[in-house]
Amino acid sequence: MKNFVIAIDGPAGAGKSTVAKIIASKLGFLYVDTGAMYRALTLKAIKEHLPFANEQKLIEMARETEIELCQKDDKYGVILDKKIVTDEIRTEEVSKATHFIASILPIREILWKMQRGYRKKHNIVMEGRDIGSKVFPDAQLKVFLDAGVKERAKRRYLQLKEMGVEGNIKEIEKEIELRDRKDRQRSISPLIKLPDAIYIDTTDLTIPQVVDKILSLLPVENLPAKTEK
Ligand code: C5P
Repeated sequence: MKNFVIAIDGPAGAGKSTVAKIIASKLGFLYVDTGAMYRALTLKAIKEHLPFANEQKLIEMARETEIELCQKDDKYGVILDKKIVTDEIRTEEVSKATHFIASILPIREILWKMQRGYRKKHNIVMEGRDIGSKVFPDAQLKVFLDAGVKERAKRRYLQLKEMGVEGNIKEIEKEIELRDRKDRQRSISPLIKLPDAIYIDTTDLTIPQVVDKILSLLPVENLPAKTEK
């Protein structure tokens, strides 16, 4: 039997990361943040001064890039070509430019391969935009997390504050709206709510409420026993 996959898709700030990490930890599954992979490639392109219009160069760059997602207890890190970039990939500059990388099909194919690879050895909770539609159309549970844009901007503002970055909430709201529009409207792997995904609006829900709701959707009889990662 294939390893278990919980696919969590949704727009920025819907609470995917927070909720996915808690669920992974409760079930003993591996947590995989696919947005971090797109961000890591974007950061590399920025650092190497590659023009985002030059798809061929970006594809070559992606082929030669090593991305590792690591975890120690409840801390998650991102390693790009052997260097830790966990915080660097979260800047507004990277957030705004990721759509260039995310709309190049050969780059997505490289990342899909890496993402699918995790299932060979692990049961996983994977979050992103196209997990249920492209990465694992056969995921045992598909969830689409959403929230109103004002609430999502507030969450992003607080998240940045925690990282020591003072943001402007209005600016953040605009940036999130623009990013979502691009993610939903692009022709390659757009963010969509699939008919077989469970839709959860988290605007007025607390994190434990969202976690409980997702856990209640799991088919208990098919759930693997908790394993060490
Ligand atoms: O999840 P996060 O907000 O970190 O993702 C950053 C960007 O990466 C998204 O706005 C989207 O353009 C892209 N992305 C994607 N497909 C995924 C995950 C992220 O296109 N599975």
